[in-house]
Amino acid sequence: MLQTFSGDLPAHVPKELVMSFPLRLGAETWDNPFTTLIPEMHKAPRAYYAPDAWSGVAPAWVFRRADDLTEIYLDTDNFSSKDFAPFATLMGENWGVFPVEADLPMHTHYRALMQPLFTPKRVAEMNDRVRYHARYYIDQFKDGHGCEFVSAFAARFPIAVFLELFGLPIDEVEQFLAWEDDLLHNPDISSIAAATAAVKNYIMTTVDNRRKEPKDDLISALTHSTVDGRPATDDEIFGLCFNLYLGGLDTLTTNLGWQFRHLATHPEHQQYLRDNPDQIPDAVEELLRAYSAVATGRTCIKPVKIGGVQLMPGDRVVMSTTLGSTDPEVFDNPTEVRFDRKPRHLAFGSGIHNCVGLRLARRELHVAMEELLKALPPFRLAPDAKILTRLGGVIAMDSLPLVW
Ligand code: HEM
Repeated sequence: MLQTFSGDLPAHVPKELVMSFPLRLGAETWDNPFTTLIPEMHKAPRAYYAPDAWSGVAPAWVFRRADDLTEIYLDTDNFSSKDFAPFATLMGENWGVFPVEADLPMHTHYRALMQPLFTPKRVAEMNDRVRYHARYYIDQFKDGHGCEFVSAFAARFPIAVFLELFGLPIDEVEQFLAWEDDLLHNPDISSIAAATAAVKNYIMTTVDNRRKEPKDDLISALTHSTVDGRPATDDEIFGLCFNLYLGGLDTLTTNLGWQFRHLATHPEHQQYLRDNPDQIPDAVEELLRAYSAVATGRTCIKPVKIGGVQLMPGDRVVMSTTLGSTDPEVFDNPTEVRFDRKPRHLAFGSGIHNCVGLRLARRELHVAMEELLKALPPFRLAPDAKILTRLGGVIAMDSLPLVW
């Protein structure tokens, strides 16, 4: 939809490419956007300039082709990842969320600290505990006739795994859930700032404790780490912990929600996976593609042409994995879920910032699907279900009522 621009349109932006961004922060829908809004968005020009695409309030370029998005992900000379998360600014502080907001060369140092925590061996070692937490939550509702899946499972299970990874007490799940809700789902700025301050206080108290008494956990490892030959500062340690907190919770909740909504509304797919559990990894990969739900951002730092449009320093870009993973030029009939597609999707991004936690994320998604399909009889969407989906950085359902 063409849109008028209220400020001064930068000289390099053609008027005919000014359009609104339907997936902007603050927008919501009662439809399933993956079958309605998103296919429509692929009828728009290859790139356009949306006055509201940056956090719902500022202009940014929107690219919808996987090739263009990948080119930007890989182009660390012309694009910066700095300052796309608002949390430190809201608190009046200036720490970064690392490594996601760091550019080269600092990114390499931060990433090197995280990489060893997510090797195939480390993730395999977590397998039993991941399964334990999945079973714990499933046991709470499996003997009934239905559940509200987001709160009963999708929100709590990733927090339990996160607490395990961080060596934090499991009875903090409810507190971390409340903070996450305020950080990511509460439009009130003061609540977001208060939740950020509370998480920071909690993590930094734990950092102090681990300095005195190290344990075999992630916070101890980060607390004693060095960056470019010097000890990591407190702000850096917090930035690294906060990236894991932001990166590993809402993303999983959302993907679990969409994957189980898909199975609830496609009984033939559900039955296929019940009969062929060895196909779960391929199915999860295709569902990650079809329901890629995360968007981050980049800022242009040198003049560059991408996808036929000129970008100038200071221009922001929305990096929508949703659009990249549903590009009809790459994926034939992209709304159709085909478990044998084996797609090269953008759900986890690409380039130097691609998701460092993707092995753990896949493990959690595989275990959840294995355990839920084993424990529950065939399930479907509750007949009277009305599901609100919030758009923005993560395309997230408010609830998912399932019955069996
Ligand atoms: C299904 C679940 C997940 C999805 C869809 C997802 C998606 C993404 C995406 C798209 C990026 C790239 C951001 C960018 O380039 O701007 C990213 C980066 C990142 N993710 Fe994930 N993520 C998931 C799970 C996790 C988990 C479980 C963790 C850790 C516990 C994690 C930690 C991170 C970190 C630390 C980064 C920054 C990496 C860097 O900048 O080098 N993510 N994730």
